[in-house]
Amino acid sequence: MDEATIKIIAQQLRQPHGEFALDVAEKMNEGNLLINQYTIEALDAQPNENILEIGMANGIFVKDILSKNSSIKYSGCDYSEDMVREATKHNKSFVENGQAQFFHAKADELPFPENTFAKIFTANTIYFWDDITAVLSEFSRVLKPKGQIILSVRPRSVMEHIPTVKYGFTIFSKDELIQIFSDNNYKITSTIEKAEPDQEILGVNVKVSTLIVIAEKL
Ligand SMILES: C[S@@+](CC[C@H](N)C(=O)[O-])C[C@H]1O[C@@H](n2cnc3c(N)ncnc32)[C@H](O)[C@@H]1O
Repeated sequence: MDEATIKIIAQQLRQPHGEFALDVAEKMNEGNLLINQYTIEALDAQPNENILEIGMANGIFVKDILSKNSSIKYSGCDYSEDMVREATKHNKSFVENGQAQFFHAKADELPFPENTFAKIFTANTIYFWDDITAVLSEFSRVLKPKGQIILSVRPRSVMEHIPTVKYGFTIFSKDELIQIFSDNNYKITSTIEKAEPDQEILGVNVKVSTLIVIAEKL
């Protein structure tokens, strides 16, 4: 695959938009199925909890959280208008019964008052945050006291083999993520690492894994 195409795919992964947006979202759902399942398991949503997701893309996994208990409330924010529209469509019944809401919003400018959420989770988005300190401070504002962040990534050792990554991704090892959270007033409560089957990504066979960092607001 030529570099111009790889660059276009990288831009779509950062912010799916336009005629390719829906196909890109479906491809992400396939490649990211396990990382999303592991993240939802780690999220461990409880009855009556108010939960926020950043970067839900087309929101195909939201049902796996909300079908557990009808008292769980979910808000999803994505800065791609196309993804907000798709996620709203895919989760029509949860939107109609008041369990889910979707917002066109950036991670560092959230449309919620302070002390709103018990947990915030996000998979495969930190690579694109231009100002991590601003995002983590915004999360802290909307989290309740002792609120949790569940953040999932493909670690540096996986990402460095993926051809799109040189076009605008920032990648992290486990130690780097732990340092970022402690520098930004969070306490790490646990980390989870899971191996996944190899994937062929843009012509490269990649040894894939999930890294989840769970941190509590100080
Ligand atoms: C690579 S996709 C990951 C989608 C999904 N979470 C997954 O793991 O398959 C990144 C998604 O996060 C959104 N996103 C990235 N940075 C964001 C930010 N700073 N604020 C809001 N949404 C963001 C993008 O628009 C896109 O839908």
